[in-house]
Amino acid sequence: MKIATVVGARPQFVKAAPLSRAIRQHHQELLIHTGQHYDPSLSDVFFQELGLPAPDIELGAGSGSHGSQTARMLAGIEEVLIRETPDLVLVYGDTNSTLAGSLAAAKLHIPVAHVEAGLRSFNRRMPEETNRVLTDHMSSILFCPTDDAAANLRREGISKHVHMVGDIMCDAVLAFRPIAGKQSTILSRLGLSPKRYNVATVHRNENTDSESNLRHILTALARLDRPVVLPLHPRARFFLRKWTMESLLEASNLIVTEPLSYLDMLHLTGNAHAVLTDSGGLQKEAYLLRVPCVTMRRETEWVETVAHGWNRLAAADTNRIWEAYSSLNTPEHHPSVFGDGRTAPRICHAIEQYMEG
Ligand code: UD1
Repeated sequence: MKIATVVGARPQFVKAAPLSRAIRQHHQELLIHTGQHYDPSLSDVFFQELGLPAPDIELGAGSGSHGSQTARMLAGIEEVLIRETPDLVLVYGDTNSTLAGSLAAAKLHIPVAHVEAGLRSFNRRMPEETNRVLTDHMSSILFCPTDDAAANLRREGISKHVHMVGDIMCDAVLAFRPIAGKQSTILSRLGLSPKRYNVATVHRNENTDSESNLRHILTALARLDRPVVLPLHPRARFFLRKWTMESLLEASNLIVTEPLSYLDMLHLTGNAHAVLTDSGGLQKEAYLLRVPCVTMRRETEWVETVAHGWNRLAAADTNRIWEAYSSLNTPEHHPSVFGDGRTAPRICHAIEQYMEG
């Protein structure tokens, strides 16, 4: 079987690593990198650390407004699919690359497999929500990480070829955590001791593109009782400059860094006192690593982390973030809601059965 995998943004490289390895044991994979993320710190370093094969095709779509970026990727992917005639197209998550890949394939009547299907924030102002809803409705075979995700699909009338397989990021965390522990020097580089610091990230449009939200978040981080490592996404840096708010980064407890590699981030997160983030992936990683989390959004797709007491929703509100952080604890209850780290072989098997049927 010839499977075309479409990736483009940082979390997709992480998700593709375990599955790409499983696919290549028995099948041919054509790896298409849309170029949505192109900075070496957001792209190349992930390929190196995760042992991902170099992309077969690099489309170099780059940044831009949602419409123009998605359109460039759509046109590029379509051309590749027509030329390469894969049996199936595999897409991950909810980025513009996901939407472009699934749309290009669906229009050419090539079956689409969606990994991380069924997640919903029920907030249609998020670009990711549009991307994931549309992708799910164009997919032929859907891989849900949680029961809740499968229930969301049922409510939307999607029940055929839906598989509950666990979360592919869990495979990555379990495989790479011991390697990160051996190889990462991030704690000594930043002069940190385990459990004596927090990790924070901000990159969602709703937070970076809003002057008020960004100010609330940075003010909250400056109030925390421990050092806060803040690997700054280019989008957040861009908007801080635009609103001349860069002085907020000078708070004495903030340690601002460039975006970190996967192994450094995994090691940093695993040893943190707490995580504060608006990232979906990091909420999950915090849970898997048993680190409590404050989510600086109004809603989350990873409702299980909140239900089991490991994650608190605080929106982008200084007082709420501070209150949520102050009341964090590490619950004794920690069910394996994201699977057992064997999601990749399960997905492979289901794809093979689907294609044979
Ligand atoms: C994208 C995804 C988001 C995902 C995130 C992971 C969408 C709609 N959003 O957000 O779901 O959680 O990736 O990180 O697909 N930029 C650089 N260098 C790069 C790439 C981007 O400097 O290599 C800057 C550009 O100014 C760009 C901005 O970051 O305009 C935003 O990049 P974009 O690809 O639009 O989305 P992300 O915010 O990274």
